[in-house]
Amino acid sequence: MTVPFLRPQLPPLEAVQQYYRLAEDARFYSNGGPCERLLRERLSAHLDGATCIPVNNATSGIMVALLGATHRAGTRGRPLVVTPSYTFAATAGAVEALGHRPLFVDVDPQGWQVDPAALESALAEHGGDVAAVLVTHTFGVPPAAGLQERWAAACAAHGVPMVVDAAAAFGAVDAAGVRTGTGSDTHVFSFHATKPFGIGEGGLVTTRDAELAGLFDGIRQFGFAQGRLATLPGLNAKLDELHAAVALAVLDDFDRVLTARRATAEHYRLHLEPAGFGFQTGSAGGTWQAGYLQAPDPAARESLLAAGREHGVGITAYYERPLHHHPAFAGALVHGELPVTERLASCALALPMANDLTPAERARVVDVVLDAVKQS
Ligand SMILES: Cc1ncc(COP(=O)(O)O)c(C=O)c1O
Repeated sequence: MTVPFLRPQLPPLEAVQQYYRLAEDARFYSNGGPCERLLRERLSAHLDGATCIPVNNATSGIMVALLGATHRAGTRGRPLVVTPSYTFAATAGAVEALGHRPLFVDVDPQGWQVDPAALESALAEHGGDVAAVLVTHTFGVPPAAGLQERWAAACAAHGVPMVVDAAAAFGAVDAAGVRTGTGSDTHVFSFHATKPFGIGEGGLVTTRDAELAGLFDGIRQFGFAQGRLATLPGLNAKLDELHAAVALAVLDDFDRVLTARRATAEHYRLHLEPAGFGFQTGSAGGTWQAGYLQAPDPAARESLLAAGREHGVGITAYYERPLHHHPAFAGALVHGELPVTERLASCALALPMANDLTPAERARVVDVVLDAVKQS
């Protein structure tokens, strides 16, 4: 039996159509039509009243959030944005696209999240040159209790705004049961087709700060804050009506999607943790875009990748190359040697995941993994 790495699944056309009809009836296909307005309301209810600004993808959402945050803080002209290297290329790509230079910091070995001590020391060394801090919720997992508050406190102490790239974390809950995006920080989510909340291309920026919400709204539509007068740095990051309709249909079925993914992840944990595989602290409340875990050592990781290729099981290495090793980020600054990032990358694995992965498929994945480990 072959098992693909990911098997994305968007809602059926009929489920989308009931919403898209609203746009058709209104002859309104973008620029805040009826689907987008309804989506804002329903997402806001889902996130405990946070202001929700849909965008066309998370990469532009990060740009909107950074532009708004640095515009207000008066730090936009500074060169650096502190961010982890242990993330997806879009995190630092958005930073560079705005003309800033990433300053990469290390992550912690249990949660794989930005190490607060590394962030504090980077800010102490470079504070006056830092435009913003762009932390992540690594692999869609919320940080451990108190960690995000510590990041925010370090930023506040240096007068630098913080944005959270929570791309894969829409639907995540922390150990205390608090849903990601309901707090006071600015969060950016991705609705890419491969994300658990997948709509094709799309994303979301959330905030509880009315002034920032106004800035984000203006920036994502050409910098228009008053009529068609461009008063802000602007881009076009609007979500069109068809994708908003897809998002409404995804939301209707999202609890089932998360339950299914967490059940598969729990199956992986149950069978693989005793065999020496490492799981991320807090991942039980994550969204599980893929089955992220750590191999016992780098050699075992290579055997597993080979076994996956041999048996047609989509075992992948994620994030196998930290961003400071990507040619596009050769001009970035690196704060220290990033030893945890390097070690996590050398053992990083991602196992197959889908909304509808069958019990037979997940059992097959576990069998291939355990056989490969025994032989390595
Ligand atoms: C951590 C992180 N940031 C940003 C992005 C970019 O999201 P999008 O594809 O919606 O632009 C991704 C996408 O996978 C991601 O994983």
